[in-house]
Amino acid sequence: MDFYRILAKARSNPGELDAGDIAVLLDPPDAAAQQELFQAAYRKKVELCGKRVHLRGLIEFSNICTRNCLYCGIRRDNDRVSRYTMSMDEIIRSAAAAGEFGYGSAVLQSGERNDRQFVDLVEEILLKIRELPYDLGITLSCGEQSLETYIRWRKAGARRYLLRIESASEKIFRAIHPADASFTGRKDALQRLKDAGFQTGSGVMIGLPGQSIADLAQDILFFRETDLDMIGMGPYLPQDETPLGKMFPDQGNAAEKRLELALRMIAVTRLVLPDVNIAATTALQAISPADGRERGILAGANVIMPNVGDVSRRKDYQLYNGKPALDENNSLIREKLIASLAAIGEQPGFNEAGDPQHFFNRIKKNERI
Ligand code: 5AD
Repeated sequence: MDFYRILAKARSNPGELDAGDIAVLLDPPDAAAQQELFQAAYRKKVELCGKRVHLRGLIEFSNICTRNCLYCGIRRDNDRVSRYTMSMDEIIRSAAAAGEFGYGSAVLQSGERNDRQFVDLVEEILLKIRELPYDLGITLSCGEQSLETYIRWRKAGARRYLLRIESASEKIFRAIHPADASFTGRKDALQRLKDAGFQTGSGVMIGLPGQSIADLAQDILFFRETDLDMIGMGPYLPQDETPLGKMFPDQGNAAEKRLELALRMIAVTRLVLPDVNIAATTALQAISPADGRERGILAGANVIMPNVGDVSRRKDYQLYNGKPALDENNSLIREKLIASLAAIGEQPGFNEAGDPQHFFNRIKKNERI
C-alpha cells in the first residue's frame, strides 16, 4: 500500500519526500497505520534527544495587542478582555521561577506592539534576566518587528524567537486575518529573525475552516524551505468572542478530530525534519487536559512550555476557549508534568537550555557555502 511504502521512505530518505508523499502520510488509511506513523516519529525523537523533554517556562507578560487576527481571543477589538502588562518585578519574578524550577529556559510572549516604549521594555526585561543567577535560554514571541528591533533584542540576550506563519497557504492566511496583515510581510519578518541571528521558530494552526490535507502538506514544505529550527503548532480552537469563532462554532467531535490531525502533523513534521525542536503545545492540552501534550511527545514532539506566570493573569490571556490549568499554581503544574511524563517513560531535561540541533547544523552548512 502507498502509505507504508512512503513511511519506509520517510524513515530512510526524508529529504526526498514531496508534497504528494507528505499528504499521504498525513492521512493514514486506518488506526493501525496511524499508530505506525506515531511510532516512527517517536523513534526519531528519541534518536534526537533521548527520552527527555526540553522545558520552557512560559511568561505571558502582556495581552495588549495592536493586531486584530480573526481567530485570536486577545485581538485588538475584543473589549471583553481586561488588558494588562506585568510589572518589571512580576516578569523578573516569573523568570526567576523558571530558573528555580530547573526549566533551563523561558519564553516571553505578548500581544504585538511596535511602539518605542514596548521595544525598550522588552530590551530592559532581557537585560534584567541576564542578571539573574540562572543561565536561562530566552525565547521571545512578540510578533513582527523591524530588523533593528530584532537585533537589539538579540543583543540584549534573547536567542530564540517564535513567529507563526499561521498557515502557509496565502488564501487561508488572508481568510483568517484582517486586510492589514500581509502574508509576504510575515515571511519577510521570519527572514529578518534569521538575519538577526535568532534560532527561528514558526508554525501553523491545524484544522482551520477550509484547510485541506494538501494545505497542511504545504505547511510542512514551508517549514523545510524556510529552514526553521523550531516548530510550534497546535489545533485551531474556536474562541467565542472572535469573528472566526462565531462564524464556525465547533460541532460534535470536531475538537477531538482536530487533536488527532495535529498529532499527525507533529509526527510527519518530525519525520521530514528530524533535527528541529517541536513543541507539544498548550492547545493540545486544551482539547485533552489529561494527556494532550503527552500524546504530542509520543508523536514526536520534544518541547513542553509550562506556565510560570502568576496564576491571576491566566484568565486574561485566553487565545482560545478551554485554556487548561487556569487556576493551578506553578508548583502543581510542575509536579503534574513530571508525573505525566514519567507515566510515558519520559523525563524533563532539567537545567539544560535545549537548543535545537537544527540551528547548529544550519550554521555549519551556511559556513561551508
Ligand atoms: N486557536 C488555536 N491557536 C490560536 N492561537 C491564537 N488564537 C488561537 C485559536 N483560536 C495561536 C496562534 C498564535 C499563537 C500565539 O497562538 O497560532 O501564533
